[in-house]
Amino acid sequence: MPPIEVLENIFWVGAVDWNVRHFHGFTYSTHRGTTYNAYLIVDEKTALIDSVYGPFAEEMIVRISEIIDPSKIDYVVANHVETDHSGAIQEILKLAPQAKVIGTARCKEGLQKHYFGNWDFQVVKTGDEINLGERRLKFIETPMLHWPDSMFTYIEKDALLLPNDAFGQHLATSKRFDDEVDEKILMDEAAKYYANILWLFSSLVIRKIEEIQKLGLKISMIAPSHGIIWRGNPMKIVEAYLRWARGEAGRKILVVYDTMYGSTEKMAKAMVEGITSEGVETVLVRLPVSDRGDIIKELLEAKGILVGSSTINSGVLPDVAPFLEEMKGLRPRNKIAAAFGSYGWGGGAVKIIEESLEKAGMELVAPALTVKWVPDKDEMQKCFEFGKKFAKKVTKTK
Ligand code: FEO
Repeated sequence: MPPIEVLENIFWVGAVDWNVRHFHGFTYSTHRGTTYNAYLIVDEKTALIDSVYGPFAEEMIVRISEIIDPSKIDYVVANHVETDHSGAIQEILKLAPQAKVIGTARCKEGLQKHYFGNWDFQVVKTGDEINLGERRLKFIETPMLHWPDSMFTYIEKDALLLPNDAFGQHLATSKRFDDEVDEKILMDEAAKYYANILWLFSSLVIRKIEEIQKLGLKISMIAPSHGIIWRGNPMKIVEAYLRWARGEAGRKILVVYDTMYGSTEKMAKAMVEGITSEGVETVLVRLPVSDRGDIIKELLEAKGILVGSSTINSGVLPDVAPFLEEMKGLRPRNKIAAAFGSYGWGGGAVKIIEESLEKAGMELVAPALTVKWVPDKDEMQKCFEFGKKFAKKVTKTK
């Protein structure tokens, strides 16, 4: 794949990782692979914005070499330390040892502790600019979106925002732009990315977008460092981020459970019937056979969640516990919730679920529903009514 000219004299020189199936260790499933986007700006001075994951360094250097001699690079802008974007910097600096590395103070600290290089580093902060000739690079610090070192680069001439991880998606494709790919797949991957990487920082997301709006920066294109570039309607992803950050979601209910001998599953399915009878969309997920990253993405788009588990050793089943921990960590905004589950000689699971849902910041809108042993006909009807009532609450919740 050759380099792609994104705008006049601005080239995508990144790499497509078709085969990666896990990110951040094994915490994020990347069913559709990913890309590491690096951008080369050719002007009186030449700048490389971000690089690629180390194993793809050669691929990036070949692309750069099709445009210029890499030794001519004057600036390497590191918007973010994480190795999927900085991994190839040392290879570039071997070819262009005179190049200045640009980043925040935290970035400098992070790059030094990763690569131990004696590099010419220029620390920048919000509002600082570097003149390339026709274009100027402007920097905006974005701490904790999603690391302390993170920043955005902006080019006024093209109204181009280069926000590194923000607005990205893990999507490997031979296409580079939003108007060239399936919109549903694109937004699904963008939502999964937000839910798994940025959800916890939603307050900061809102504040940073407001700050950029106050700076009056016109944005015609957003070129993140993963996935495709937003050029058709870049505000679409900004508006989606604001929606997700505010906890706005559709009338959808996620029913998440695990079951030992099938009783909790019977309860879950009866609840799904009750929810459906109210015309509310629902998604049923059994934890041990489902992907955690996909479930978190479903939760982002759901107004309510029902969590069920059989009781074992006075607690929840082993696959339920990490999901509850994950929700406590992400602290989803503006969700309603309830618990359910079956038990044998002693209960306990629903109490743990309720405590976890509350710690995650969700509003418990009904006492937990429990069933001893196997649900009989009356109890199945209660489960149906439980789902129905919960669906009514979802339709009334703003
Ligand atoms: Fe894509 Fe935070 O690295």
